[in-house]
Amino acid sequence: MNGIIFLACEDFIVERLGLDGWDALMAKAGLSECYYQPDQSYPDAEAEAIFSAMPELLELSREESLIAFGRHMAPGLVEMAQAMGLIGDDWTTMDILEFVPDGVHGVLAEDDPDMDPPDMRTLRLKHGEIAIAYMSKRRLCHMIRGIIQGLGEMYDEPLAIEEPVCMHHGGLLCRMSVRIDDPYLVRYVDIPREFELVRSRIAEITFYNRYKGVPIISSGLVLKYSEEEVLIQTDREQLLAMKMEGVTHLTLPHMHLGIKARVDSVDIKKCMAVLYQVVLADGVLGRRRQTRIKPHKTILIRLRHKFTEYQGEILDLSVSGLSMEVETSDKLNELVLFAPVRMAFSLPMNSATDLDCEDRSEDESIRGRYLALDGNCLNVEERQGKNVLRVVFGTLIDADRSTINDYISACTRQFQAIRDLKDAFPEYSDDE
Ligand code: HEM
Repeated sequence: MNGIIFLACEDFIVERLGLDGWDALMAKAGLSECYYQPDQSYPDAEAEAIFSAMPELLELSREESLIAFGRHMAPGLVEMAQAMGLIGDDWTTMDILEFVPDGVHGVLAEDDPDMDPPDMRTLRLKHGEIAIAYMSKRRLCHMIRGIIQGLGEMYDEPLAIEEPVCMHHGGLLCRMSVRIDDPYLVRYVDIPREFELVRSRIAEITFYNRYKGVPIISSGLVLKYSEEEVLIQTDREQLLAMKMEGVTHLTLPHMHLGIKARVDSVDIKKCMAVLYQVVLADGVLGRRRQTRIKPHKTILIRLRHKFTEYQGEILDLSVSGLSMEVETSDKLNELVLFAPVRMAFSLPMNSATDLDCEDRSEDESIRGRYLALDGNCLNVEERQGKNVLRVVFGTLIDADRSTINDYISACTRQFQAIRDLKDAFPEYSDDE
């Protein structure tokens, strides 16, 4: 373990018990002759000896003493990461947690080959919610809890921390969920600041509307923004759908959040619209549920995690992710939580869309649009001897997003047509 953690521990004990307390702790741990430097690593056994000696001296349980240590350490870790330019000065709990594995631990480990930071993965589920998977032979999830509590105290953000799966209770890893436990803070986003970022970077935003139950999704630009309204540019179909709905949902590229806006005026010729009452919605796409369909026929999928490939079948699909079923395998368990994966599958567009094409050749009906997408594994469950995996897609390029949307629209139309037929002839319906 790196000397920084030992020095932080010394600081913690000295603050609580004075210098004599640190000497007593080191004596109890059998490490009286040991001194630590921030640029060196020391045996894990020494850290463990110190953590094991701490509870008695502090008159706390092991769990409580590690939580207290983590809380104490949080401000110093943040200060260090800011001084190194690894995290922004205006970041708060969620931003920091999201970024630590790659942007802090990962960078530190690149610079110092002796470092051995934990296998920690984070996945931002909403503006105010993050999931953490932690795996390390050091099993310091209580310290993590403490660091998170410390971050919450630093930024005055009340947090709810849950750990439904823990290595100390038989889990292969620890799985935590951290949520901002304040209805006001969880909805607070500096929207003018976010739009200004999009405008200045000439980045694209994505709009989501729906017409006759079919999702209409296009990208667009922010042309102008004031406190009250935002002028955007996007495709004509999107503008028409916005006009019909009177609202639109949108996501910004640098912020995995759902935003909702009312549509004021639409100029179809100039491809522009004025939006107002821009507010944060819940979840990635706000309260709007995305259309998730079950494929109308079997779609095989290959999923690659590190160097292993798994074959399976898609169970359901939306523009944000999919579920798939694979034969149970020892390797596919909670260890792949949040892990980056690559998926390849073909969506059978012709058979889904050209329903009226009489002379469709066999070839065309099976030809599909091939997609190779990156994503993260969100959940793994065993169901009836098979593994069911839920995967969220990373950022999709426009062409892939439209392919999925075209497929979903075609399936939705097909299901609707079948429902209409069944309604027209209830006597022949096989539904109970
Ligand atoms: C933001 C600034 C942070 C800095 C600069 C930082 C730095 C470090 C360093 C230097 C180590 C020692 C690694 C080694 O010896 O190989 C470490 C370990 C660790 N850090 Fe961080 N860290 C930060 C944030 C966090 C956060 C936010 C968490 C958890 C929520 C966290 C969890 C841990 C854990 C659990 C370990 C112990 C290693 C293990 O369990 O295997 N760190 N960190």
